[in-house]
Amino acid sequence: MSVEQRPEIEALMAESRTFPPDPAFSARANAQPPLYEEAERDFEAFWARLARERLSWSKPFETTLEWELPFAKWFVGGELNVSYNCIDRHVENGLGDKVAYHWIGEPGDTRTITYADLLAEVSRAANALRELGVEKGDRVAIYMPMIPELPIAMLACARLGAPHTVVFGGFSAEALSGRINDAEAKVVITADGGWRRGKPAELKPAVDEALRETPTIEKVLVVRRLGDRATQCPMQAGRDVWWDEIVPRQPPDCPPVPVESEHLLYLLYTSGTTAKPKGIVHTTAGYLLGTSFTHEMIFDVKPDDVYWCAADVGWVTGHSYIVYGPLANATTGVLYEGTPDTPDWSRWWQIVEDYKVTILYTAPTAIRAHMKQGPQYAEGHDLSSLRVLGSVGEPINPEAWLWYHEHVGGGTAPIVDTWWQTETGMIMITPLPGVTTTKPGSATFPFPGVDADVVDGEGNPVPLGGGGYLVLKRPWPAMLRGIYGDPERYRETYWSRFPGMYFAGDGAKRDGDGYLWLLGRVDDVMNVSGHRISTTEVESALVSHPAVAEAAVVGGSDAVTGQAIIAFVIVKVGIEPTKELGTELREHVATKISPIAKPKSIMLTPDLPKTRSGKIMRRLLRDIAEGRALGDTTTLADATVVETIRQNSGKSED
Ligand code: WT7
Repeated sequence: MSVEQRPEIEALMAESRTFPPDPAFSARANAQPPLYEEAERDFEAFWARLARERLSWSKPFETTLEWELPFAKWFVGGELNVSYNCIDRHVENGLGDKVAYHWIGEPGDTRTITYADLLAEVSRAANALRELGVEKGDRVAIYMPMIPELPIAMLACARLGAPHTVVFGGFSAEALSGRINDAEAKVVITADGGWRRGKPAELKPAVDEALRETPTIEKVLVVRRLGDRATQCPMQAGRDVWWDEIVPRQPPDCPPVPVESEHLLYLLYTSGTTAKPKGIVHTTAGYLLGTSFTHEMIFDVKPDDVYWCAADVGWVTGHSYIVYGPLANATTGVLYEGTPDTPDWSRWWQIVEDYKVTILYTAPTAIRAHMKQGPQYAEGHDLSSLRVLGSVGEPINPEAWLWYHEHVGGGTAPIVDTWWQTETGMIMITPLPGVTTTKPGSATFPFPGVDADVVDGEGNPVPLGGGGYLVLKRPWPAMLRGIYGDPERYRETYWSRFPGMYFAGDGAKRDGDGYLWLLGRVDDVMNVSGHRISTTEVESALVSHPAVAEAAVVGGSDAVTGQAIIAFVIVKVGIEPTKELGTELREHVATKISPIAKPKSIMLTPDLPKTRSGKIMRRLLRDIAEGRALGDTTTLADATVVETIRQNSGKSED
């Protein structure tokens, strides 16, 4: 593995403008500089203080951290309930009428859910789950559109101590069944469908298909979202139950089940470097502390803020910064079902204006998509309520940063570029608004208490100005506790590359001022529109098609999506390499994994460049995909292969 030199990063670091905090903002910022010092003095004592102050415990913890590398246990001996911390205590503190979520359906329907409403709904849903046989420790799969019942379902599971695994609604039936089987889930919570780009998008057929191969599933709870259209939604007697037939009749109270600090809160599957997604394990107390504290500090959340994280709840961003972190902080949030372009590109800005959104958290790919449409949509709306902007999911290029700053933030709102991962649970590298002077394109510094470093291939820290691999050197409360059912893979994936350190899989540089610049993945993982997709996963989907002999997938750069999936495919002898076959293969990947994993282009080629040992040379394929000059080809088994691919690629590109 080598850290690639990326010319765009060099250009990016040459961007010399810096953005110091506004003194007026600093004066009332939640985060203050001494936080760094306190955390550095004794990071365990720092997190222990916060855990005592911020979380409501039914039994106090005794030990802050048990660290048997790579296995961490935080706040050992303590007991608490996440749903209680996110809802009940706020209602008990007189915040029952405070809005938890302003929900906006894509067709324009809306719902306002207060903390008191949330308490009643979550309690009813928890009672309904119990009626369906769910008990503490049972896993529940959730496959839903962005409707209020999604966070309600998650919180209902947490109330019972039943771990959930949310599967993004854009995933295929096959992806869903794989996750259900790995988690051995007992119940699925889903909906007949949701609204997407002005049209109903059904979900239940995919569930029915997935459940043909999932022996552990006993019941399916189905929310009616599509209204009359749902009459066509087939329900299997004895297995499928409508949400509106079982939930509303339950009593609106359900005592939260106290669980141990390290009780499994959820599994979230993410792509690794193999074809099998990893079930990332997140537990209760440390996760809730890490997400809620970072949320309050990094977004400077105050009681009267209206906070909108525009991600889907199905990703970790949604888990940590739409559901658990914000609700633990009694925040008022916006939840929007649809896409930014429906009915047109002013939709988001209309929402910001209507709800006077003060904090917006989104991904660079979304900013670039807006940029592409031009600033007129944003300019046509009053965005003056916005006071903090966040970015996540991939490196943000300075051009997008500056556009966001100027056209969305009115040239004044600080931007927090937040680096983290499904595995880290919480934001790890980020500016603190009001404290940090930002540089467009840099995620700046580790969050207080986090020890991040950039090391060379031997694990030695690189000097200022150097590049290498991003590592984390001490445990943090929201860290993953493992890969579900596979401790060896956990150790191997994250803790074996550099002994004693967590290897994130990202390349990074530190500039002369010590600022961190994230350079993207250094493993076989692509980042498409902020979604993590494994090259191997797409390759194995391709080779599962009867016409395909061999496939290699690389990430090429794309102006909007960051990376785009480029596939090189060798067809079997006797198969015609036609354009139609290319289209069919793209659809095949969509069915196997998800439409988001569909290759942007497929090159049907007679051969692939390989080393003498038979390893596909991805670096060359990336060069070809991006039309770059070819690097050294001498390690190729057959140097003419590259030329052949290059010549054919123009013709067979889909
Ligand atoms: C990978 C993690 C964390 C929520 C969304 C993605 C990339 C994430 C940044 C950033 C540069 C970033 C990394 C990381 N990434 N945030 N601010 N700057 N790169 O979660 O699917 O687990 O992906 O996203 O490559 O490893 P994920």
